[in-house]
Amino acid sequence: MASLIAPHGSEQLNPLFVADDNTRAQLIQEAASLPSIAISSAAAGNAVMLGGGYFNPLTGFMNKADALSVGASLQTTAGLFWPTPVLNLVANTGDVSVGARIALLDPNVDGQPVLAIQQVDAIETLSAAELETLTQQVFGTTDAKHPGVAEFTAQGNTLISGPIQVLNYSYFESDFPDTFRTAVDIRNEISTRGWKRIVAFQTRNPMHRAHEELCHMAMDRLNADGLVIHMLLGKLKPGDIPAPVRDASIRKMIELYFPENSALITGYGFDMLYAGPREALLHAVFRQNMGATHFIVGRDHAGVGDYYEPFEAQEIFDQVPAGGLKIELFKADHTAYSKKLNKVVMMREAPDHTKEDFVLLSGTAVREMLGKGIAPPPEFSRPEVAKILMDHYQNEA
Ligand code: ADX
Repeated sequence: MASLIAPHGSEQLNPLFVADDNTRAQLIQEAASLPSIAISSAAAGNAVMLGGGYFNPLTGFMNKADALSVGASLQTTAGLFWPTPVLNLVANTGDVSVGARIALLDPNVDGQPVLAIQQVDAIETLSAAELETLTQQVFGTTDAKHPGVAEFTAQGNTLISGPIQVLNYSYFESDFPDTFRTAVDIRNEISTRGWKRIVAFQTRNPMHRAHEELCHMAMDRLNADGLVIHMLLGKLKPGDIPAPVRDASIRKMIELYFPENSALITGYGFDMLYAGPREALLHAVFRQNMGATHFIVGRDHAGVGDYYEPFEAQEIFDQVPAGGLKIELFKADHTAYSKKLNKVVMMREAPDHTKEDFVLLSGTAVREMLGKGIAPPPEFSRPEVAKILMDHYQNEA
């Protein structure tokens, strides 16, 4: 078997999902008699990521010292490179006490079934000042209008830390059977295919021509064996395209415009943080864990509004300590269709062009067109992709 890139922080991947059926059944039974607590959607996403091996080598939810250390210096107290706190934050601890094993209830599934069991190592509070500092460090802002800040600060200020055992993958497996994959699944698939150079592409949007060509450019320039499209399947801010529609449009694009067997279409169960640069670092960590050797970071990666500079998510990688990450970055400039060259290019590679030489449309303009049933120009969107998106917007109206 081809040897894959090492996971982050350990030799072997250590997924926290309890894979043995008997042990899992016993734990589910045990959970019924444990004190329980309904966790936030963000914490549930963390559990799903921990379960699938994406957050290797973490063993559970961080304590306060680790959270503050990660916020201030991109590393845990033990010196592990880590970009964002992985927390179980609650407003009220109910009857949960230190030393207990507790059942974590899934807020995103009807009836709130048990998602994981946690060993409570500590219960600590973040002061208002600590929460504010952490928010600023992670999101670069404390503006309550920032969708990630709003989610983060709504969870409460009490931190329940300790190791977890994950019992299922929430709604992701049942809602996205063809697309949801764990880091373990993707490593296995890469291994089976014998791929050695693997490019990962993060997305929370449908893929237009610029995205499509960005992936082709990365594959060509890196001489890659394969591409893993890895889409976010968790919660998004209002107005973003729902995962099933995005999934369908990406599948159509790959079917029509990529060589057979060159791309895997996959997704992960996590809510979008919109944390721009910090989230880009987290993205790189979990792409390494799933076995990718290269990771595309383009313009305004994981951004929202104008909270981040267009290439801040690339620049932050300069702060990764030497050896902190094994996965390599593919830094992409703004890609757009050139009317002069009749193809999508990186704008900095066409220095003789003016803005007018490119087909540039804002997200808002594209949404408006799709909503009215007008297909964006084929230079911007493949017609087959535009059709799926128009159907979505028109059914929504
Ligand atoms: S993200 O929030 O998941 O980053 P999106 O799905 O829009 O948003 O972007 C996916 C990836 O493509 C990111 O790395 C982003 O930087 C990159 N990207 C999107 N559009 C462009 C573009 N026109 N030029 C360069 N990179 C782009």
